[in-house]
Amino acid sequence: MLNKLLFHRFPTLKSWITRIQYEFISALNPKHDLLFMNFGYTDHHEGGARILLDPQDEIHRYPLQLYHHLAKHIVWNNADALEVSSGRGGGASYIMRKFKPRSYIGVDFSMRAIEFCRTHHQIDGLRFDHGNAEDLKFADSSFDIVLNVEASLYYPNLDKFLAHVKRVLKPGGYFLYADLRYEEKVNEWHKQLKDAGLKLVKEEDITKNVLEALEKDRARRTHLVDTYVPSFLREQFYHFAGLKANTPGGKLHLEHRRYWVFIMQKE
Ligand SMILES: C[S@@+](CC[C@H](N)C(=O)[O-])C[C@H]1O[C@@H](n2cnc3c(N)ncnc32)[C@H](O)[C@@H]1O
Repeated sequence: MLNKLLFHRFPTLKSWITRIQYEFISALNPKHDLLFMNFGYTDHHEGGARILLDPQDEIHRYPLQLYHHLAKHIVWNNADALEVSSGRGGGASYIMRKFKPRSYIGVDFSMRAIEFCRTHHQIDGLRFDHGNAEDLKFADSSFDIVLNVEASLYYPNLDKFLAHVKRVLKPGGYFLYADLRYEEKVNEWHKQLKDAGLKLVKEEDITKNVLEALEKDRARRTHLVDTYVPSFLREQFYHFAGLKANTPGGKLHLEHRRYWVFIMQKE
């Protein structure tokens, strides 16, 4: 409830709290078992193919599959890519290794996350910069692909971010986007995207795939909270990890939110 009030009424305050929250998460977890911070994706229960992963990626299968689901729609050869809100860099590393773009820059406003990524993900062509989604410091038409996963819900001004996406994309470039919104805000969100001046190539409601992924990933998520979060903060963090507040064994939830994927293109 408090969360919802902050999202709707005080977006700038929400953004500040988010920043502190993500700095705190990086401070809690100096180990390398938290490389992704999204709710995950699966379509196995719908007959989707199980992608083959490197052994070290298997533990991150569900959040990684969300990146795979976005990335598989386009050709990455020779592409210069930008990920806004790259978090702890698991998606950036996976895409560099699997889809092999020419270059990939991950940007996040958590300095600790950027420092972690610089030490942990050292791959030729991959770089991490500190920055704000609403004030991207890149030249016009400099990227073939912009990626954004489960982060724009925290931005106080989505239109500003979308204007930057359009500006930094080359003509013909793609915007790969996944996020969630409270049910009553979904129509307004779709309108904002429609008004962003990018061509909509594909849109998909993946809420049930995300809920299924949360269920399959429940034990790992519960273990992460129980291992790293001090007990007096756990209730809040179960909620944050998509596990029902108060009880880690409780029903999974997205708190009346819908999760969507969009593929858009600059004409
Ligand atoms: C839920 S995490 C997702 C991280 C990553 N995309 C993933 O899927 O693992 C949200 C991320 O958005 C970042 N973030 C939130 N607001 C931001 C802003 N205004 N500019 C840049 N990054 C921001 C946070 O620091 C955090 O790393």
